[in-house]
Amino acid sequence: MNMEGRTRLDQLPEWHALAAHRKELGDAHLRDLFAGDPERGSRLTLQVGDLHVDYSKHLVTDETLRLLRELASATKVAELRDAMFRGERINTTEDRAVLHIALRAPRSAEIRADGEDVVGEVHAVLAKMTVFTDRVRSGDWTGHTGKRIKNVVNIGIGGSDLGPKMAYEALRSYSDRSMTFRFVSNVDGADLHEAVRDLDPAETLFIVASKTFTTIETITNAVSARDWLLTGLRAGQEAVAKHFVAVSTNAEKVAEFGINTDNMFGFWDWVGGRYSYDSAIGLSLMVAIGPDCFREMLAGFHLVDEHFSTAPPERNVPLLMGLLGIWYNNFHGAQTHAVLPYSHYLSRFTDYLQQLDMESNGKHVDRDGNRVGWQTGPIVWGTPGTNGQHAYYQLLHQGTKLVPADLIGFARPVKDLPPGLESHHDLLMANLFAQGQALAFGKTAEEVAAEGVPEELVPHKTFDGNRPTTTILAHELTPSVLGQLVALYEHKVFVQGAVWNIDSFDQWGVELGKVLAKRVEPALAEGAEVPGLDASTEHLVATYRSLRGR
Ligand code: F6P
Repeated sequence: MNMEGRTRLDQLPEWHALAAHRKELGDAHLRDLFAGDPERGSRLTLQVGDLHVDYSKHLVTDETLRLLRELASATKVAELRDAMFRGERINTTEDRAVLHIALRAPRSAEIRADGEDVVGEVHAVLAKMTVFTDRVRSGDWTGHTGKRIKNVVNIGIGGSDLGPKMAYEALRSYSDRSMTFRFVSNVDGADLHEAVRDLDPAETLFIVASKTFTTIETITNAVSARDWLLTGLRAGQEAVAKHFVAVSTNAEKVAEFGINTDNMFGFWDWVGGRYSYDSAIGLSLMVAIGPDCFREMLAGFHLVDEHFSTAPPERNVPLLMGLLGIWYNNFHGAQTHAVLPYSHYLSRFTDYLQQLDMESNGKHVDRDGNRVGWQTGPIVWGTPGTNGQHAYYQLLHQGTKLVPADLIGFARPVKDLPPGLESHHDLLMANLFAQGQALAFGKTAEEVAAEGVPEELVPHKTFDGNRPTTTILAHELTPSVLGQLVALYEHKVFVQGAVWNIDSFDQWGVELGKVLAKRVEPALAEGAEVPGLDASTEHLVATYRSLRGR
């Protein structure tokens, strides 16, 4: 789809209309918006699949929502979405199609990249993953000494780590509890050390997950893992085949490492790293939860894909969430967005979203390379809500910054929680509801004073409220619900990138650091001269070397 000749975002009449509307609304308070519309709590709620999405506690009127939808229409969000689903090369700076939606399409679907149907290939890889997973879980796949595999260690970083790790944590209650799953990403040797120190190499399988198979952190860890294995087994290279498999698009490099390419699970350049955990990059997850649950998760993703591509704008949840983010980011000056799950099992969800959102939309030029004149992606942050309440919620309630937030919760605890612990759940959810309420409506000085609080303390105990939240509720954190949630955020990020007219699917911003690290490394170890090193870095390198006694 050709975006050339597009009017600059900040010159669109729809943009100006929103700016004017923002002025008009001023400090309109949620207390008044709710008082004027008793149905607001149920009226501003949408359903997608199993997700109930309450957006009533946003600083918006029907007019705001209408104007935001007009902006989406003026910036051709739906057209770009359709181009993505058609397999067009919408990742223009890398000249690639963007087809993660094909990873969860049913076998009967037809999705083409460069004229070739890709769904068949996706299902062929899924079938290969299934056979492998069944062999490992049943004990048919054994290690070099004939012992059953009990431990699976995924080695990868960024999209080749965050997704499988997050989803494994989220779906632990669906996992084979007789097995151990670990995730190694950091090139700090401590990560690998802690992951393997209590494992028996004879029972350990490494999954090396790297789209490019050139990522320095992953290859360094994989080489050290191979040394640990061969030393532990007192075996030669021939042991690698039973203890290492790879997930990659680069068969040549996989073979070079010594992994039999029969034990390689492929994917494609039309899957971005941060959109890849529902591809073979999720192999460790599939081994953990089994192929059926994995497919259930894919069906959840697909359900939201269908919704995103077909639901009308007024009921399109990813569109709405994307536009609400734009409202705060571009018209309220909000710099950050908090994601606060009320579920211990979603403890890695925000880490995962950080890459999804910030690597996608942390861009300073538009699709044509012109510097943007508007704010792009927000800083995404957060941890499970109850813990956050005793840490940073003070700032959310009474600080000077506006932090829009998503509160995510479930009606039921996970399925295998013992009955005694199940009773915690109402308390957990009461906290979620209470926080949304307190953030939105606060507590006025009059209400505080009426409680007999001494006058000098009244300002300290007053809560302004008017802090916007979206509440997402589902019946339970099932594999399908997890897929639905992730797809919802993927498409939300898509919508925002489309409005801002940036390429959400490249990541040039991570390159410079990689290149500089390669240049500096010889200086650390060997004291090699690095030409053109700045004075600060030069001094730091010298200090490091002296602290290491070099
Ligand atoms: O951080 C940059 C990045 O390219 C991510 O986009 C990607 O998920 C990660 O590195 C890992 O890359 P690979 O899977 O090729 O090892």
